[in-house]
Amino acid sequence: MTSELADSQHQPSSGGANLGSALVVEHLTKRFGKRIAYEDVSFEVGYGEVFGFLGPNGAGKTTTVRTLGTLIAPTSGSATIARIPLSAESGPAIRARISIMPESPGLYLRLTVAENLECFARLYELRDVRSRIDRVLQAVNLSDRANDLCGSLSKGLRQRVALARALLSDPTVLFLDEPTSGLDPVATRDVHDLLIALRERGVTIFLTTHRLEEAEKLCHRVAILNTTLRLIGRPDELREQLFSRNLEVRTRLQLDEPARVFNGLANVESWEQSPSGSYVLNVTDPDTAAPDIARALVHANVDILSMSESHHSLKDVYLELIDEDVEAKKR
Ligand SMILES: Nc1ncnc2c1ncn2[C@@H]1O[C@H](COP(=O)(O)OP(=O)(O)O)[C@@H](O)[C@H]1O
Ligand SMILES: [Mg+2]
Repeated sequence: MTSELADSQHQPSSGGANLGSALVVEHLTKRFGKRIAYEDVSFEVGYGEVFGFLGPNGAGKTTTVRTLGTLIAPTSGSATIARIPLSAESGPAIRARISIMPESPGLYLRLTVAENLECFARLYELRDVRSRIDRVLQAVNLSDRANDLCGSLSKGLRQRVALARALLSDPTVLFLDEPTSGLDPVATRDVHDLLIALRERGVTIFLTTHRLEEAEKLCHRVAILNTTLRLIGRPDELREQLFSRNLEVRTRLQLDEPARVFNGLANVESWEQSPSGSYVLNVTDPDTAAPDIARALVHANVDILSMSESHHSLKDVYLELIDEDVEAKKR
């Protein structure tokens, strides 16, 4: 199943010429002594794609970002970032083409927003510092806070300053490590809106998160990591491939002997009664199963109120895969 999904082709939403992949990762592994941070991870990210790297705490997300961001060397495997092969020598060339927004913003709290950005712009040896700062502040809707001390800003606003800093260099690939972790719902929504705007502009984003709804909302494709890569695909694909399909049947009255009605139907693999009293039938193909079920219920003199296909959420997919406590296991 994993390989089928891994083969599924991504079509960048921005269209245009096929310029290869922004990230190519092959059999990448990182160990710290005996501890495995992540193992045998392979995936590709297209230009203009927002790629979600989803996994629980300790899954290896940050370590992957740090590896692809050339901050630490992998133990084995290979990667190409913005078409540059990752090696001991290629660090500066790769770093010139990417930005990383780390989990904690890391700003100078006693400097203003503009001073922070200026400081980093000079560190990155960028030109046109003024106009760049104006542009990134506009991109994160913080133009009117340029002269506020970073120390006086809320966590959500600091996160937006950190995003502005990551945008200063016009990166080919933008790495965002848990960009909304610890933010309240309003600040989270604001960051999501900014990321959606970047996505619409065709910015390539590698986004780690442990929040399912974030991955589903923002990402073209999602990889689920739990030390090894468990699954990769579009959110809707993941749902479809991982779960068999269900039909939910509501009847006017409870069935006296549901097993007599449902057992033995050719297209029904299993069934159960939901807490709300409806019957959820696991079927091979809803289109052929539904008429059989309807006939069987009519034959049993039961009134059908509704019959509908029920969908699994990405949460179901995730919980199915992340059913163990990785962090504890590694200790
Ligand atoms: N510098 C390090 N030294 C030793 N172990 C590390 C180091 N960095 C990360 N790890 C371990 O690697 C695993 C993955 O960590 P991390 O990449 O931070 O996970 P995530 O970002 O998904 O929460 C964890 O078990 C963590 O303890
Ligand atoms: Mg992390």
